[in-house]
Amino acid sequence: MDMRSIIAASLAAVPLTACPSTWNCNPPEEAFDDAWDTPAGWLRDAGVEPGATPSAEQCETVCRTAYYESRGWQASVIDDCQLSVYDDRYDDASPADRVVGQVVCEGTGIEFYCEGRRPLGHVEAAGVGGDDLGRVLATLAHLEAASVLAFAQLAELLSTHHAPADLVRRCRRAADDERRHAAWLGVLAQQRGATVPRPRAEPAAVDLLSIALHNAVEGCVHEAWAALEAAVAAERAPDAALRRAWARIAADEAAHAQLSWDLHDWLCAQLSADERARVQAARTAALRALPGRAATVAHQAHPALGFPSVDRATALAVDFAGRLAA
Ligand SMILES: [Fe+2]
Ligand SMILES: [Fe+2]
Repeated sequence: MDMRSIIAASLAAVPLTACPSTWNCNPPEEAFDDAWDTPAGWLRDAGVEPGATPSAEQCETVCRTAYYESRGWQASVIDDCQLSVYDDRYDDASPADRVVGQVVCEGTGIEFYCEGRRPLGHVEAAGVGGDDLGRVLATLAHLEAASVLAFAQLAELLSTHHAPADLVRRCRRAADDERRHAAWLGVLAQQRGATVPRPRAEPAAVDLLSIALHNAVEGCVHEAWAALEAAVAAERAPDAALRRAWARIAADEAAHAQLSWDLHDWLCAQLSADERARVQAARTAALRALPGRAATVAHQAHPALGFPSVDRATALAVDFAGRLAA
């Protein structure tokens, strides 16, 4: 499961022809062909085990990270990828920033790409004051702030349940990402006079099954969709500052969705067969419901956010849910 590839594939499969907008629907594109020093953290994020030969998928994940870190853009297509790892430098104790290899890759990059993950027991709240767009942005900033709580909560719970350190670390990093998202959208909301409500969560069950059910719906499906939605908004939003915010948010949300699917695998391995079946069923139900949910959000969304039209949101969600289910 490579979330960035799936998002790029859905965007390519459901093009912008139905977009009625005259806004910038076609982000800048470029060919890239480069070599990057590769730190240990990138390899761990891609799941490369010390001593193992990296797979093609892992190479592409590292390539996407390298291109994004150096350019700030997304690699939409990767034509060729070679990943070399210096075995004498890469082991479980290698510091994350230590150069332990090199990735050489070429492909096509675009300047593209939300609502976030709600914590267990999240209490919904809406932005107040300001103009219409300001209140919507304040509500979204509130959801981003809720995502900070969600990932901090998740990191604590996973730590308590002795989850792999890498998963715990990625949750903490995701909480930092969400803090930045909340700040970016919060500033835009405040510029329009709106106030961001503080996130709040009621006490909730913290057993592994509850975490897995929540992750399967909020992370594997909703956060993945949010990444795709933000990618579209990064192209369509009429305001340049908002487009920039969506582009950065979309890249982070794709990583969070990837984390959710990786986490899903670990959680399922801890559960009984019956519990696993419940989690799979919850995820399947959320995928089935995605087109309807996406259409509703698209119908209600403020046009200045740049979210997809109802028709395109529905088509994208059908395509995306199909790819995720496969
Ligand atoms: Fe976010
Ligand atoms: Fe997120």
